[in-house]
Formats: sequence, structure tokens, C-alpha cells
Amino acid sequence: MSVRIAPSLLAADFANIAHEVGDVVRAGADLLHLDIMDGHFVPNLTFGPPVVRHLARHCTIPMDAHLMVSNPDPLVPALAEAGVARVSVHVEAALHLHKTLASIREGGMSAGIAINPATALSSLEDALPFADFILVMGVNPGFGGQAFIPESIHKVERLRALIGGPSMDISVDGGVDAQNASALIAAGVTTLIAGSAIFGAEDRRRAVAELRKCAPEMESC
Ligand code: DX5
Ligand code: ZN
Repeated sequence: MSVRIAPSLLAADFANIAHEVGDVVRAGADLLHLDIMDGHFVPNLTFGPPVVRHLARHCTIPMDAHLMVSNPDPLVPALAEAGVARVSVHVEAALHLHKTLASIREGGMSAGIAINPATALSSLEDALPFADFILVMGVNPGFGGQAFIPESIHKVERLRALIGGPSMDISVDGGVDAQNASALIAAGVTTLIAGSAIFGAEDRRRAVAELRKCAPEMESC
């Protein structure tokens, strides 16, 4: 079994962003995770499609946009145009989730549903056929560097059972590090999203490799 590693740009040096993107690409990342925040759904602001469009020129791996915004729909076409490969929207924010997921797919992107730590899995169950992946938050969204909420591991396990097999990607985001990665993968995670554990590491290549080797066929963590 293999796992994909997605560094979260939120933990990068934003004054040096093109270099930071190149650095994690060279470090062996599989996806670049982009946190788009509106200061309303979450108490923080980051960047939007114009910045993503510029970042695309420096990014040779697929871009994964995580929309922490109250109104995701207007952003979708611009993200498709910017060359984003996957977009996740929060089940707590999308008022017409089926429609939003369909518009992401219409833009040629994979459609994901993100879910907060205290939101019940039943809230996304009926939308599973319309999604390509699920992003389980390991922290309350808004900031990097927060402590991982351990109950998220059991949530992943229950979600994997609900999906009923390995077909769909489960990503986990927030507080992911080499200490909890093995348990998350064993529970059913196939994409590890990590901000501080990668951008905060002195040797980012090693940090990516350490997370990757938490997958079972490799030596244990
Ligand atoms: C949190 C973001 C995460 C964050 C993860 O709201 O969605 O992507 O950057 O950062 P770490 O890995 O530092 O918790
Ligand atoms: Zn994120």
C-alpha cells in the first residue's frame, strides 16, 4: 500500500513562496495542498485564485485546493482555470453540496468533501457517490501548527467502513506528523497532508520520506 504526501503551503514562508513550492517539489511531494481561507468560515485569511494561477507556474505536481470559505461556488471556475487538480469544500459550508461537487467535476477537477472534527460522518454519507475523495480534518480548520485531535483516527476508520473499500481517497489534514501517520494509514488514510511537519523541518526531503515510510510495506515509523 502506498500513501501520497501533500505538503500544506500554509506553513511555508509566504515572502518566498515560489522558492518554497520548488523546494517541496524537489523534496519528493506528490501534491501541493493550498489552503484558501475567507476570514468568515474560518478566522484567518490566505490567498485566492489569482495567487494560485501564479503558483501554478512553479508547481510541477498536482495542486490540491482546500476551500475553507462560506461560499465556495464562485471560486470553482477560477481554480479550474488556474490548473488545480483537486478541490475540497467543507460539508459545513456548502449549502448545495451536490451542485458544488458537480461543478468541480465539470471543471475537470476531482471533487472532495472536507469535514470538521465535530461534524458527524452522516452529514456527508448521501453525498459520497458524488465525491472523488474525503478530507478529514485532524484539527479545527484555520491555522497550521495545532495539536492533532486523536479521535480523528477512529473517524477515518469509520469513514473507510462507510465507503466500503479502498476505492476512494481519504486525506487527513491538520496536525499530521511521523508520530500519528502510521495509525492514520492503518485506519484508512491514503493522502497525508502536512504543513509544519514538512515546511518546519530542517530537511524537508527527509520529512517527506519519513511520512512516506509510515505506510505498511515500508519499514515502520
Ligand atoms: C488548517 C489547514 C491545514 C494546515 C495543516 O486549517 O487546512 O492544511 O495547513 O497544518 P499543520 O500540518 O501544521 O497542522
Ligand atoms: Zn488544508
